[in-house]
Amino acid sequence: MARTDIAGALAARPRVRLATLPTPLEPGPELAGGGRLWVKRDDLTGLGMGGNKARKLEYLCGAAIAAGADTLVTVGAAQSNHCRMTAAAGAVLGLDVHLVVGGAAPERPEGNQRLSLLFGAHLHYAGTDDWGELEAAKETLAAELTAGGRRAAAIPIGGSTLVGALGFLGAFAELMSQAEALGVAPRTIVTTTSSGGTHAGLLAGRAAQLAAGRPAPDIVGIAVAPEIAAFPAATAHLAAATLAEAGLAGEIEEATIDDRWLGPGYGVATADGDAAIRWAARHGAWVLDRTYTGKGFAGLLGLAGEGRWPPGADVVFWHTGGQPAVFTSDGSPSGS
Ligand SMILES: Cc1ncc(COP(=O)(O)O)c(C=O)c1O
Repeated sequence: MARTDIAGALAARPRVRLATLPTPLEPGPELAGGGRLWVKRDDLTGLGMGGNKARKLEYLCGAAIAAGADTLVTVGAAQSNHCRMTAAAGAVLGLDVHLVVGGAAPERPEGNQRLSLLFGAHLHYAGTDDWGELEAAKETLAAELTAGGRRAAAIPIGGSTLVGALGFLGAFAELMSQAEALGVAPRTIVTTTSSGGTHAGLLAGRAAQLAAGRPAPDIVGIAVAPEIAAFPAATAHLAAATLAEAGLAGEIEEATIDDRWLGPGYGVATADGDAAIRWAARHGAWVLDRTYTGKGFAGLLGLAGEGRWPPGADVVFWHTGGQPAVFTSDGSPSGS
């Protein structure tokens, strides 16, 4: 019979420790409509300046090392946090890291790229921002490295595989035990979603919790990339695969993905996002970025304004990180 305890299911998985866990769960102010904000500080996972990818990389690198890899190859947008954190993981674990990054080589690398170089990674500029072309370039590079005698483990964009998403299955259980210790029963978790692994892992966690006969918060993904919003079935599919991979019981529901705060496209700043960045900075000194968490938090504030949560409901914003991009030339909104 499939099991229902998440920690027990994850205990046997290959894993390396990269993150400082548990991350804090901080209370915030009252939201419009009377809900109460909580912030899950995955910007403080520690690895290479923190962020959500540390949780995925614990399982991705665990699997890569178990398979005998000596090199990690991954891919992302020009300011990819995932690339930066993979570079950091490689530095910690003594693995070579090759990164295919979007766009052309800049005159002066900024933000995440600067840190990736500092962590010793090799950057390969793809000259494109198309996700399909970026993935293809990563596959070609991994094949070249393998032909050259390296034992290369290729990790897709955002680390959103069923192995990576195990990190967020565990994260769901972590939040539930923190909430229980505080006597809080979260109504909803709101997370930024882009490649879908964070959302999928949390959805898998909710399914396991419900299968164990315990109440569980619903999960809302705020889309920051059009691709993820166009195919919500892909997130549900990844969640089901993650649950099965862990050997856990549960029924995966449809993924709720709201793209109303995406704006004109991935990585294009919006007025709502910038307003949310200022709100977070001025209510809790939480630092959000324009590509991911600013838009994700704009979604939470927008949903609160629409009356989504009744007075007293506990609403968790999963702060997935992204701060290095704040220090790029167009990375933060002006002060007012
Ligand atoms: C700061 C930040 N938040 C959220 C996300 C979205 O996570 P996922 O790719 O698992 O959907 C990312 C992914 O790149 C990110 O870097």
